[in-house]
Parts: sequence; structure tokens; C-alpha cells
Amino acid sequence: MLIPAFTILAFLSGVGFCKLYEDVAELPALEYDFVIVGGGTAGLVLANRLTENSSVSVLVLEAGPSNVGVLDAQVPFLADGVANNGTPYSWNYTTIPQSGAANHSFDFLRGYILGGCSSHNGMAYTRGAAADFDRYATLTGDQGWSWNQIFPYFLKNEGWTAPADHHDTQGQYNPAVHGTDGPIQVSISGFSWSEFEQHVIQTTNELPDDFPFNLDMNSGKPLGISWFQFTIGGGERSSSATGYLTPAVLQRPNLDVLLHAQVSKLVNATQSRAVPVEPLAFQGVEFKYGGSAVFISTHVTKHATALAGSSLYVAKASKEIILSAGPIGTPHILLNSGVGDRTALQALGISTVLDLPSVGKNASEHPYSGLSWAVNSNQTVESITQNATRYNEAFAEWNNSHTGPFVDPSPGTHAAWLRLSDNSSVFDIHPDPSPGPDAPHFEIIFQPAEYTGLSGNFVSMVVAMVSPVSRGSVTLSSADPFAAPLIDLGLFSNEFDALALTEGIQLALKFATAPTWNGYLGAPTVDLTSMSQAELTAHVRANSGPGYHVVGTAGMSPRGAQYGVVDPDLRVKGIAGLRVIDASVLPIVPAAHTQAATYVVAERGADLVKQSWS
Ligand SMILES: Cc1cc2nc3c(=O)[nH]c(=O)nc-3n(C[C@H](O)[C@H](O)[C@H](O)COP(=O)(O)OP(=O)(O)OC[C@H]3O[C@@H](n4cnc5c(N)ncnc54)[C@H](O)[C@@H]3O)c2cc1C
Ligand SMILES: *[C@@H]1O[C@H](CO)[C@@H](O)[C@H](O)[C@H]1NC(C)=O
Ligand SMILES: *[C@@H]1O[C@H](CO)[C@@H](O)[C@H](O)[C@H]1NC(C)=O
Ligand SMILES: *[C@@H]1O[C@H](CO)[C@@H](O)[C@H](O)[C@H]1NC(C)=O
Ligand SMILES: *[C@@H]1O[C@H](CO)[C@@H](O)[C@H](O)[C@H]1NC(C)=O
Ligand SMILES: *[C@@H]1O[C@H](CO)[C@@H](O)[C@H](O)[C@H]1NC(C)=O
Ligand SMILES: *[C@@H]1O[C@H](CO)[C@@H](O)[C@H](O)[C@H]1NC(C)=O
Ligand SMILES: *[C@@H]1O[C@H](CO)[C@@H](O)[C@H](O)[C@H]1NC(C)=O
Ligand SMILES: *[C@@H]1O[C@H](CO)[C@@H](O)[C@H](O)[C@H]1NC(C)=O
Ligand SMILES: *[C@@H]1O[C@H](CO)[C@@H](O)[C@H](O)[C@H]1NC(C)=O
Repeated sequence: MLIPAFTILAFLSGVGFCKLYEDVAELPALEYDFVIVGGGTAGLVLANRLTENSSVSVLVLEAGPSNVGVLDAQVPFLADGVANNGTPYSWNYTTIPQSGAANHSFDFLRGYILGGCSSHNGMAYTRGAAADFDRYATLTGDQGWSWNQIFPYFLKNEGWTAPADHHDTQGQYNPAVHGTDGPIQVSISGFSWSEFEQHVIQTTNELPDDFPFNLDMNSGKPLGISWFQFTIGGGERSSSATGYLTPAVLQRPNLDVLLHAQVSKLVNATQSRAVPVEPLAFQGVEFKYGGSAVFISTHVTKHATALAGSSLYVAKASKEIILSAGPIGTPHILLNSGVGDRTALQALGISTVLDLPSVGKNASEHPYSGLSWAVNSNQTVESITQNATRYNEAFAEWNNSHTGPFVDPSPGTHAAWLRLSDNSSVFDIHPDPSPGPDAPHFEIIFQPAEYTGLSGNFVSMVVAMVSPVSRGSVTLSSADPFAAPLIDLGLFSNEFDALALTEGIQLALKFATAPTWNGYLGAPTVDLTSMSQAELTAHVRANSGPGYHVVGTAGMSPRGAQYGVVDPDLRVKGIAGLRVIDASVLPIVPAAHTQAATYVVAERGADLVKQSWS
């Protein structure tokens, strides 16, 4: 027993073979070439890529705990156990009441764990439309963000792998558009809900004009219905923590990762040498270690010295500070640091270091709604979730062989990416917000399950408006840098989104009219077909929620633009030695779940940083 106990102790305290520091007192230094704020989806890509050069030193400061040994972060089916508010792995944010969405406040889930949202998300692997990236290139004036130039980064990130059940995947994806050697494993579902899957595929035969089959939604042309792909390999979640921060990478002598370190703000602003182009620079990153000062006082500080009388520390970056705290954390830290709208900062008594009004603005998020039917079958996910015997069997099967239904998240077997009809009257309200005719307005996820916990067997179509016009914001609630920020997603604040999503729901209802569903679909859980258009829109507003895909709160704009937060090379405008590299920089949400876009931002971002210093 002594040996395992010692091993665990050594691991936890960061001694010897592992440099994942649980204790600030063990951290050997507080000055590095690069300090990365946030060990999340993007942050760990940077940690990995920058330390490929052994003469570069990197510190990652992550607020949350380790993902290692967290079963719910490993077993795809159990993702809710790590995603939801109230777990130890969530920031526990809620939005302000959303006036466009019947004044509901929503839990706004964000990963508080190494790997960030990639350690707790739904694992859907979707890249978006080529036109999304071509629009980023146009909006930033940098062709480096175009689909063709970003495409190699998708391949670099991805390690395509066989599904857990090793079924024949021919005809379910296009190998030509996938990478096989990258750190993030991607696969098709590894457990078949065959009865349901056959009805979905049969619908593409029966209603091909509206719902054509598309071999692979990740080719840049997503329109149609494709088999879902997930960031899962061998029946386990693949995250930035498992893929990019492998034991071998952690052992690099030039990389240190400190957990339980929550950054409050950037400090020690000075005039930089680059005057007048970038008149400012921050010399330090201030962070709080652990939950409270009481917790701190039990540790004897060997190396890192706390600021007098507090649990605050300052880490220094001799080359660059990189903010990778995500689309909530990054603008929060910038605002705490006095970088933001001068009037709003003044109102809280925070002195402005740089008046940059776009910080925290232009938050762009997908609203999701859905519809469900009872089914004349017991081959749905409820056969597991409502049967303790079956549930325990399924877990044991995962535990023994990484097979069975627990290898997938509570699954969507396929997704449809669809457009409004060209003559839709919603275009009278607002011009087409999609980036082009090959990009969708809607996503429909097909699930052999119901998501509110009704008793019985159900299937669902989850419908999202993926080219929203509405914009929200992240602002400060208080001058206390540790107080949660105000999160306003602006859901349906523009009427276009509510009217468009109404048409998306109607498309899903049309899908269910394919003959194949006769005798299989029973009663809908809510009768939407008898509602008027206006009633359906009111229903949509009252029965939607966020997709957790928010971006844009530290958006890119062309160099020299009067708005925006970062230049196309991800440098914060007007500040030397500071970049934002995470989902915040995407100026508009892509027509996709956002982890793949975040990974390519980070991979290209790492190359941009390397180019500056080689
Ligand atoms: C519940 C949920 C489900 C999702 N499902 C999918 C899906 O199925 N497919 C998909 O593609 N996308 C999905 N997404 C979205 C996707 O995961 C995110 O867009 C993406 O991971 C964001 O990456 P990021 O690097 O910008 O931020 P994050 O991954 O959130 O990383 C930020 C990191 O910074 C840390 N941090 C924040 N503030 C501080 C601070 N002050 N000090 C120190 N550390 C800090 C955080 O703890 C976190 O580790 C989902 C998101 C959620 C929340
Ligand atoms: C969220 O709430 C849970 C349960 O109270 C807690 O364990 C966790 O630490 C909280 N997260 C944060 C960031 O405070
Ligand atoms: C939302 O709240 C505002 C302000 O309290 C109120 O005026 C409005 O009627 C509410 N809207 C709905 C749909 O409840
Ligand atoms: C840097 O900032 C910290 C935190 O605000 C402060 O305590 C410290 O005195 C500053 N150091 C210098 C050299 O200004
Ligand atoms: C939001 O983005 C648009 C461009 O998409 C820009 O014109 C506008 O100025 C931005 N708003 C803010 C407050 O930054
Ligand atoms: C499912 O239904 C079939 C017949 O419809 C029945 O034979 C089978 O036992 C049922 N399975 C479960 C797990 O209830
Ligand atoms: C519950 O699952 C067990 C094990 O798979 C099965 O034998 C049983 O029939 C199921 N019960 C019901 C009510 O479906
Ligand atoms: C999971 O497997 C391990 C051995 O690999 C075993 O010790 C453990 O009891 C199993 N857990 C369950 C719940 O079956
Ligand atoms: C749009 O065009 C289709 C035919 O292409 C037609 O059936 C439909 O009624 C039109 N809708 C509107 C709102 O004009
Ligand atoms: C590695 O980093 C050093 C220090 O920044 C730099 O001089 C060198 O060019 C880098 N090497 C490569 C291959 O980029």
C-alpha cells in the first residue's frame, strides 16, 4: 500500500515526473517567456505547440481542477455529470434574464476543469461551412482565416479513428477530408440505435429535395443530413487535456501548469518600447491560488511569494501574455484590467488603462429549441436511463471493454444542416445573415431520446438557429474581479432569429411527415402542428435555450479598424505583448458547434506566436 500512496502524493504535489502543479508553493518560478491564462480547449493547444521549442518556457494558469481520474469527463454518456452547474467542474454561471426568451435566465455552462469546455462538452465534431471561414477572412482582411488556408489546421488537430464498435463506416463519412495523425480523436458513433437510424436515413430517400443525404458535413459544404462525428476515441472523450497535454508533453522541462489559479487581472501596465504604435504593455498576471486565504495559509510557500497579506500572486511573461480563458473569462479579465469601455469602467470605479469599447460586446450565440414524440418502440435511450438494471449493465460494459451505449454522449445519431427557403418572408425583416448559399440557417439533431425526463420511450429533433442576428454582451457586475460577470446572450433580441427558428421547427415537422415514420412516431409531447405561426413563435421564445457556443466577445477586426478587440494576428489592439487566443476572437458564431473552430484558432494562433519569436 505504501507505494501507491506515495505515487499519488508525488503526482498531486507535482514532484518529480509530473509538472501538473496542485500547489503554488511547489511552482519553481513566477517568470516565464509566455504565461497562458486558462488551460482550456485553446490554452492547452498553445501550451503544447509553444513548448515544442525547448528554449521557450511556458506557464499555464488554470482556475479549475485536473481532469485526470474524473470518470464523468471520460465516459461520453456521463458528460452531464461534469457539465452541469452545481458540479465541481462548472463555473456555475447564469445569464441575466433574456427578454427575447420569455425572460428566462439560463444556466450558462462553462468548464472549470483542465481542458475547459473540451473536458465537459457534448463532443459533437462539426467544422462549419467553408463560407464561415471565408467570411472571417473578409471581415478581418486576412486570407489566413479563409477555409482553404485554415483547412490544414483542421487536419493537424484531428486523429480520425474507428468507432468503438468497429462497425463498417464506409458510406458514413468522407476519409478525404479528415486528418489521421492529430491529437484529437474523432469518430462516428460507436453504438448503434439501428431502428431509429434507419428511419432517419430512409427519410433522406423519401424526401430528398428537402433532406438530402450528405456523405460528410465536415467537408466545408454541410447542407443535408450526415452521420454525426464526435471527439471520441476508443469509447472515451478526447479533449485538449487528453490530446494535447499528454504525460509526455507535461514532462517537457519548459512547461509548467498550475491548477486552482484564478486570474483576476493583468497588472503593472507600463509604457512599452513600441511607442506610439502599441503604447501599453502589462508586466504581470495577477492570480488567486486556491479557494480562499485560509486555504493558502496552510501551505508553506517555498518559491512563489504571495503579495503581502493576501492569497494573490503575480506571474510575469517576458515575451507574451496569452489570454485563453474563453469567451466569458477573457473579456472578464480584460475588463478587470481596465481594458474596455471607459464609461462603463468609470461607473464601477475602475481606472481605464485602454478605452477599447468592443471588449465583451458582439457576443454571438445559437438558440436551441426542439420537439419530441413518444414512439412505438423500446429501442431508445430511456431503455437505459429508466431501467437501473440496464444502466448498471451498460456502465459495466463500458468499464470492462469500452463498448456499449456509454461510448457515445446521450446521442444524436445524425445532424441536418438546412436553409430557410429563398422566398421566406423573414428576409423582409433582415437580409440573409448566413455567409453564403452553401451555409445553413438551421441545425437539426436527431436523437433517440427525450431530454426533459418524461417517462416512456421518445425521440427528439433538437433545432438550432445557427446564423443568428442577435448579439449579447459580457460586462462587469462589480469592481471585485472575482465576482461573476453579467452574461447577456441577447437570445432572440432580434426578431429575425425567433421567426427563423419558427421555420426551422416547421422543417423538423416536415421531416416527420416522411412515410417511414408512420407507425413508429406516436403522439408529440407538445402539439405544435395545431399552433398558428404566431403561437409557434411564442412557443419558440418560451422553449429555447443557449447552445453554449458563444463567441465574439474579443472579436477580430482589420488592423486599424475603429471597432474590435484583436487584430487578425490575435494581438490586442493598442497593447504590446498581449494576445487573445480562444473562441472569443471569432467575430460571428460559425454554423457549427464551436470546438473545432476553437481548435483551429489555437493551432493557427500558435503558429502566429512562433513566427513572431523565431
Ligand atoms: C455544455 C457544453 C456543451 C458543448 N458541446 C459542444 C459540442 O458538442 N461540440 C462542440 O464543438 N462544442 C461544444 N461546446 C462549445 C465548445 O466546447 C467551446 O466553444 C470551446 O470549447 C471553447 O473553448 P475556449 O478555449 O474558448 O474556452 P474554454 O474551453 O472554456 O477554456 C477556458 C479555460 O480558461 C479557464 N479560465 C477561465 N477564466 C479563468 C481565470 N480567470 N483564471 C484562470 N483560468 C480561467 C477555464 O476554467 C477553462 O479551463 C459546448 C460547450 C458547453 C459549455
Ligand atoms: C460550482 O458549484 C459547485 C457546487 O457547489 C462547487 O463545487 C464548484 O466549486 C462551483 N464552481 C465554482 C467555480 O465556484
Ligand atoms: C419581461 O420582463 C419585463 C420587465 O420586467 C416585462 O416588461 C416583460 O413583459 C416581460 N416579458 C415577458 C415575456 O414576460
Ligand atoms: C505589480 O502589481 C502588483 C499587483 O497590483 C503590485 O502589488 C506590485 O507592486 C506591482 N509591481 C510593480 C513593480 O509595480
Ligand atoms: C460588432 O461587430 C460589427 C461587425 O460585425 C461591428 O460593425 C460593430 O462595431 C461591433 N460592435 C461593437 C460594439 O464592437
Ligand atoms: C422491447 O420490446 C420487445 C417487443 O416489442 C420485447 O420483446 C423486449 O423484451 C422489450 N425489451 C425491453 C428491454 O423492454
Ligand atoms: C431492464 O433491463 C433488464 C436488463 O437488460 C431487462 O432484463 C429488463 O427486461 C428491463 N426491464 C424493462 C421494464 O424493460
Ligand atoms: C470497473 O473496473 C475496475 C477494474 O478495471 C473494477 O475494479 C471496478 O470495480 C469496476 N467498476 C464497476 C462499477 O464495475
Ligand atoms: C415559396 O416558394 C415555394 C415554391 O418554390 C412555394 O411553394 C411557397 O408557397 C413560397 N412561399 C412563400 C412564402 O411565398
Ligand atoms: C525557438 O525559440 C527561440 C527563442 O525565442 C528562437 O530564437 C528560435 O528561433 C526558436 N526556434 C524555432 C525553430 O522557431
